[in-house]
Amino acid sequence: MNKVIFIIGVSGSGKSTIGKLLAEDLHIPFFDGDDFHPESNVLKMSKGYALNDDDRFGWLQTLNNLAKKELKSNSCIIVCSALKKNYRHILNEGIKNSTKWVFLQGSFDQITDRINKRDDHFMSSELLQSQFDTLEKPTEAITIDINLSPKKIVENVINQLQDKSEFGLFGLGVMGKSLCRNLANNGFKISMFNRHVAGVEEDVAKNFKSEFSELSNASAFDDISVFVNSLQTPRKIMLMVNAGKTIDYVIENLLPHLSENDILIDGGNSNYKKTKKRNEYLKTKGIHFIGTGVSGGEEGALKGPSIMPSGNKEAYKQVQPYLEKISAKDKNGLPCCIYVGPEGSGQFIKMVHNGVEYVEMQLLAEVSTILKAMGQNLDAISSTLESWKDTASSYLLEITTAIFKKKEGDDWLVNKILDKAGNKGTGNWTTIASAELGVPSTLIASALFSRYVTFYKDERVLLSKNFEKQTVSELNITTNEVLEAYQFARIINHYQGFKLIIEASNKSSWNLNISEIARIWTNGCIIRSTLMEDLVDAFKETTNFLTNVEIIEKLNQYKPSTKKVISQCVLNDLTTPALSEAIQFLNGITTAYASANVIQAQRDYFGAHTYQRLDDPSGKSHHTNWN
Ligand code: 6PG
Repeated sequence: MNKVIFIIGVSGSGKSTIGKLLAEDLHIPFFDGDDFHPESNVLKMSKGYALNDDDRFGWLQTLNNLAKKELKSNSCIIVCSALKKNYRHILNEGIKNSTKWVFLQGSFDQITDRINKRDDHFMSSELLQSQFDTLEKPTEAITIDINLSPKKIVENVINQLQDKSEFGLFGLGVMGKSLCRNLANNGFKISMFNRHVAGVEEDVAKNFKSEFSELSNASAFDDISVFVNSLQTPRKIMLMVNAGKTIDYVIENLLPHLSENDILIDGGNSNYKKTKKRNEYLKTKGIHFIGTGVSGGEEGALKGPSIMPSGNKEAYKQVQPYLEKISAKDKNGLPCCIYVGPEGSGQFIKMVHNGVEYVEMQLLAEVSTILKAMGQNLDAISSTLESWKDTASSYLLEITTAIFKKKEGDDWLVNKILDKAGNKGTGNWTTIASAELGVPSTLIASALFSRYVTFYKDERVLLSKNFEKQTVSELNITTNEVLEAYQFARIINHYQGFKLIIEASNKSSWNLNISEIARIWTNGCIIRSTLMEDLVDAFKETTNFLTNVEIIEKLNQYKPSTKKVISQCVLNDLTTPALSEAIQFLNGITTAYASANVIQAQRDYFGAHTYQRLDDPSGKSHHTNWN
C-alpha cells in the first residue's frame, strides 16, 4: 500500500538530509515542502516576516493535494516542519490511513549548535526559540533522536516503518517460551521461532502465540529466513536452545540470513570456552555474540531472571534495554543484569553460579539426612527448615521446605523419587575450571562427586549389604547446631565460588566487578539469598571476605556447632561430605604452616623436584640427597 511519509521537526533538525537519504533508500520521490510556498509567502519570508497561520493554510493544503496525487501512483516523502497539531491535521486531510510521521527530535542547544556549524544557514536564537515554543510534539510519530548519524536514523526509520520486530527469540523450550512472554509483557514487539520437525515439533511458535493474549502482537515462525527478515536491523536474536553442538548448528543455519552487525545472544548454559571460540568465529563474519548466563528456571524467566551478559560491550549496549527490562530487580529496584565482561565471562560466572547451586542443594540434602537421623519425619523437617528462614533465607531453602511438605497419597512424594541425582554438566565444568585455574573449590567438587556417587545405584545397593551402617549413639545435637553448621558451610561455599571467579578474572584480565556480580544474584536466580545480599556490601570493601569482621565473627560463632555436628555424623555413619569439607577447608586455609613441607620433601626425595627453605629468603631451589 502506498504511503506518504511526512518528515517533521524544527528548522535545523536535518529534515531535508534525512528525507533525501530515506527517499533514496526506499526508491520513492522526495519533496521539500518549502518549494511549494505561494509567491506571497516567499515574498513575506524574504522580507524577514514570519508566516502566520492564515499564510500557512493554503500552503499546507497544497502539500495535502500533492500527497493525494502522489498516493495514486506511488509512495513519497514530504518534508515540512508541521510544528502544530492543526497543521498536521490539514496535511492528513482525507489520507489519514496512508500517512506516516517521522519526527526528528533534538534539544534547543543541539539544534543551535548544528545551525551555527552550517555556512549557508542562519537563524537567530529568538526565531529558533519561537519554533520550539510553537512545537506541539506529535504523539503518534516515529520519534528519532537527531544525535544519531544520518545512516542510523534512516535505518531506524525504515525498521519502524516496516513494523518489524525489535527482538527475536530462537527456540521455544520451557525457558524460551517464558522469556518470550516476559518480553511481550514488557511491551516489546518480538518475533518467535521454533523449528518444524514433522510429527514432533509442528506449529510450535504459532500454537504458543495463540495460547497467551500477551503474545497477540508477537510474530510466530518456523521458517528461519522469514523469521530473520521479520526483525529490525541490526537484528537481536536470543538463542534459547540446548547448550553444546546445537548452538553451533543453529549459528550455521542462521548465518546465511544475517547481516553485518547483527547480534546473537546465547542464553543457554554454554561452556565459557566454547563461547569464546564462537565469539572469535562470529567476529570473522561481522556478527556480534553475547554469551549470556540466565538463571531463575521457568518462573524466573517469566517473571524476571538474573541475567549475566558478556562479550563485545558496544554490541551489548544495543541489547541492554531489553535484557535489563526483563530481568529481576534487586531490593533497590536496580536490574539484576549487568554487562559482566569480555569473552565468555558471563557464561563463566553462570557456570560458577551453578557450582554454588550444586553445593547449596547438597547441603540441604545433607541437613535433611541429619534431621531425619534426629528422628524428624518430613513434615517436621519442613517445619524446621521453615523456622530457619529468619536467619538463613534463600530460594533453595524455601523450595526444599515446600518439597518436604508435598504428599502423594499417604506418603511424601520425595520418598518415591529414585535417589540418583542428574546433572547437565555445569558442575562438572566448574570443577574442571577450578582444577585448571588451581583454585581449591573443594565444596563444588564434593557436591558434584556426591551426585556421581548416587549414580551408582546398583553398586550402592550391593555394597550396602557388605558394610552395615552403625549408629553408635543418639545424635547428640540440636537443630540450632545443625542450622549453624549449615550456615557455616554456606559461607565457605560462597567464599570458594567467588574465589574461583576472582582468580579467573585476574588470570584472563576480565576485570570483573565482584560486588555487582553478587548484587545481580540477589534476585531472580536460583542462589538468591540474604547471605548474597550481605556479600554485596562485603565485596565493596574487599575481594577476600574472610577478612571481613562480621563474616569472621559468624564463622567463629558457628564453628563449634559445626565441629559437633560433623563429628556426630561421622560417628553415626551419616554421609555429609559437603558439610565436612567446609570445616576441613577453613582449617586448611587458616593454617599458617601447613603439612605441605612433607609433600615437598617426598617430591624431592623421589623426583629431585627441589624445595624452598624457610631459612633462605632468596627463594632459591634446594635439593637433598635423602639417602
Ligand atoms: C538456573 C539453573 C539452571 C538449571 C541447571 C540445572 O540457574 O536457572 O542453574 O541453569 O536448572 O542447568 O543443572 P543440573 O541439571 O546440572 O543440575
